[in-house]
Amino acid sequence: MPAHDYDRGTVPALDFPLELVRCPQCAGGLAVDADLLRCSTCGHGYPVLAGMPCLLPRPHDVIGNWCARLGEFVANNEDTRTRLLADIAALPPSSPSRARLGNLQRRLGEHRERIVAALAPLGVVPTLRVAPEPVGVPGEGSITAYYHQIHRDWGWDADGSEENTRAIELVREAAADRPLGTTIVLGAGACRLASDAHRTCMATTTLAVDIAPLPMAIGCRVLAGERVTMLEFPLAPPDAHHACVERELASASPGLPGFYQLFADGLDPPCPAGVFDTVITAWFIDQVPTDLTTLLPTIATLLRAGGRWINHGPLIYHPNHTSIRHRYARDEVRDLIAAAGFAFVNERVDRLLFMQSPACTQGRTESVWTFVAEPAQGSRQATALTPEPSWLADPHAPIPRWSGLSGYAPPHPLFARVLGLLDGQRTARDIADILIDQHNVPSHAALAGVQTCVAEMWRATHP
Ligand SMILES: C[S@@+](CC[C@H](N)C(=O)[O-])C[C@H]1O[C@@H](n2cnc3c(N)ncnc32)[C@H](O)[C@@H]1O
Repeated sequence: MPAHDYDRGTVPALDFPLELVRCPQCAGGLAVDADLLRCSTCGHGYPVLAGMPCLLPRPHDVIGNWCARLGEFVANNEDTRTRLLADIAALPPSSPSRARLGNLQRRLGEHRERIVAALAPLGVVPTLRVAPEPVGVPGEGSITAYYHQIHRDWGWDADGSEENTRAIELVREAAADRPLGTTIVLGAGACRLASDAHRTCMATTTLAVDIAPLPMAIGCRVLAGERVTMLEFPLAPPDAHHACVERELASASPGLPGFYQLFADGLDPPCPAGVFDTVITAWFIDQVPTDLTTLLPTIATLLRAGGRWINHGPLIYHPNHTSIRHRYARDEVRDLIAAAGFAFVNERVDRLLFMQSPACTQGRTESVWTFVAEPAQGSRQATALTPEPSWLADPHAPIPRWSGLSGYAPPHPLFARVLGLLDGQRTARDIADILIDQHNVPSHAALAGVQTCVAEMWRATHP
């Protein structure tokens, strides 16, 4: 029996399509067992958080990390409010800034209460951090990551923003030739585009997958018909009045039969192969995988024969997350998608407003690529690019000598040196240290150089 179970009472008749999910640890089938989903093969239990199953391999660690993030948010909020009090005290009584800072100080307290209250139904409460924040997508290591997207999804329409409308128009137009059917949305965030696609593009069942608790929690309540009041703090408000904007987050079309939210890893969804008619990725393929090519076989595997992948978003890579060699330009991505066995059905690029709050004087535009791609006829086997071994990315794993290496012709002396040092035991770190000590390779470049050489050798011998 697993070490961690959850005691939140019984899940009353969980409404969830269990046939579309599997145990993230052993791929066994799942069944409701009191307050959990339990794997019928390995026995691991997974909590259901405010109606959303949490199918992450170590859910207790993930929830613990969310609690620690909330604790950090509360502490930072308190610090800011204390500093604001000191700032106010330093101002002359007649200063016109007193009112703005006083309002901000008060509203930040209210903001903290609202965020804490929004997460409480998921069992996420502020705690002190006891384990380090896991390495992840830059910018996502706080509980309020994507907080502005929540406002965009469910609040800005009321003030004239057309970002949501434009996004669903483009997806609908791209997918117009047939219903979406059974759909999975990877990285659905607060679920506006996912739910609009479900409602307007004839999806029968949609799984909206994400790993961020705040957008998912608020999206869940809004989609259930609740009006959720939250506070927005625009980065560059036009006047003091807009330093804090109270928004009522609501859906114009709540209550979506067949729409389900799921906490799971969108890079490795715990779903059976070939069960989805549609995979949707929106603002995901550039930001979340460190190498898009690793996601393509996953998308192909999720799709049933005749299914399709709809993508909507830019190619803007984070330099700390995606190495230069994986920051593919659009034409490279097109080639990689074709090499993964997909054929493009349609595509277009539009320059769109992005995250332009009606209450902010700042905003940006992005070139958004909307495309539909289908596994090409007869290519389901071809979709699996030869999977890259994990030791390519792990500097401490021994690098085996693989067949095909003996015929490899090194294109550069550095490649020849690395090739000569591959003995089946040494790791990339070991080889980098030898290059530093014996061949004057600069220490800052050695490890990356070795890993690049070995990866190139692997690819050249696995066409
Ligand atoms: C740039 S946002 C896009 C959100 C949404 N698709 C939209 O259009 O607003 C990327 C989303 O991916 C989610 N995400 C990051 N890593 C993920 C993972 N491994 N699995 C699932 N979702 C993930 C983030 O929490 C975030 O909601």
